[in-house]
Amino acid sequence: MARSVAVVVLLAMAAVAAAQAPGPAATPATPAAGATGPPNVTAVLEKGGQYTTFIRLMKETQQDTQLNSQLNNSFNGNGYTVFAPTDNAFNNLKPGTLNSLTQQQQVALVQGHVLPQFYSMDSFQTASNPVRTQASGTDGPYTLNITSTTNSNVNVSTGVVEVTVTNALSAVKPLAVYSVDKVLLPFELFGVKAPAAAPTASTTKPKKGGSTEAASGPAGAEDAEPTGAASARAVGWGVAGLAAVVGCLL
Ligand SMILES: *[C@@H]1O[C@H](CO)[C@@H](O)[C@H](O)[C@H]1NC(C)=O
Ligand SMILES: *[C@@H]1O[C@H](CO)[C@@H](O)[C@H](O)[C@H]1NC(C)=O
Ligand SMILES: *[C@@H]1O[C@H](CO)[C@@H](O)[C@H](O)[C@H]1NC(C)=O
Ligand SMILES: *[C@@H]1O[C@H](CO)[C@@H](O)[C@H](O)[C@H]1NC(C)=O
Repeated sequence: MARSVAVVVLLAMAAVAAAQAPGPAATPATPAAGATGPPNVTAVLEKGGQYTTFIRLMKETQQDTQLNSQLNNSFNGNGYTVFAPTDNAFNNLKPGTLNSLTQQQQVALVQGHVLPQFYSMDSFQTASNPVRTQASGTDGPYTLNITSTTNSNVNVSTGVVEVTVTNALSAVKPLAVYSVDKVLLPFELFGVKAPAAAPTASTTKPKKGGSTEAASGPAGAEDAEPTGAASARAVGWGVAGLAAVVGCLL
């Protein structure tokens, strides 16, 4: 009799202990996950160590605070992907390239490096081209084409610039940041002004829907186009980009 009571008590104690065990074990995980907070694109880039120009451009165009606040906000559950050009990439631009852009065009340039969708290296293969960026103009969003290469890297093309993506600085949802060694000059800002890249120009009039038509070959130079028209249009793009930013902020 006394013995079976003891067994019952022991079993009861074991049951209580078992019920309590998961509690203490699970507790440490919660604060650890909560402590990370929303991702911070600036911090990721600073840690990378070779993105000072891109950090400065993001700051000057207020795209750092814009993206960070979007990352700390649930309105886009899809996350974001950033292609971050290295300082070398900026150094390799034709001298004066950045200075030739208006503030609004610089906004569009930065936004053209940001996708409103998180892509892991693997999920790039599911991207459906053309992929839209955060930048947009009167003909709609600036786009990029993303294609897989043989050695499981991906190529990203604006129609003006193509670059291979190999290195992720961060790839934890909701923020992926990939290093690129070229600045992704948007077709919408640079496509019509790329004489060196174009073997022939079969048309004399600038195309309105240029971004998709550029695919068939290197960007078609509009040799016959007066530069004044090109820059007037470029300003239009920049204004549209600013309007998009203002729209986002409202
Ligand atoms: C993001 O990181 C940068 C650099 O570390 C810091 O200056 C900034 O305050 C951070 N922003 C937010 C929203 O935490
Ligand atoms: C994120 O948003 C919450 C709620 O608006 C705010 O309290 C918090 O300070 C924000 N965190 C950062 C790092 O900006
Ligand atoms: C990827 O881009 C690199 C660099 O521009 C280029 O040399 C290569 O041919 C491209 N590969 C594919 C499969 O498009
Ligand atoms: C991007 O991909 C789309 C769809 O495959 C294609 O129609 C377009 O020509 C491509 N553009 C560039 C710049 O490669």
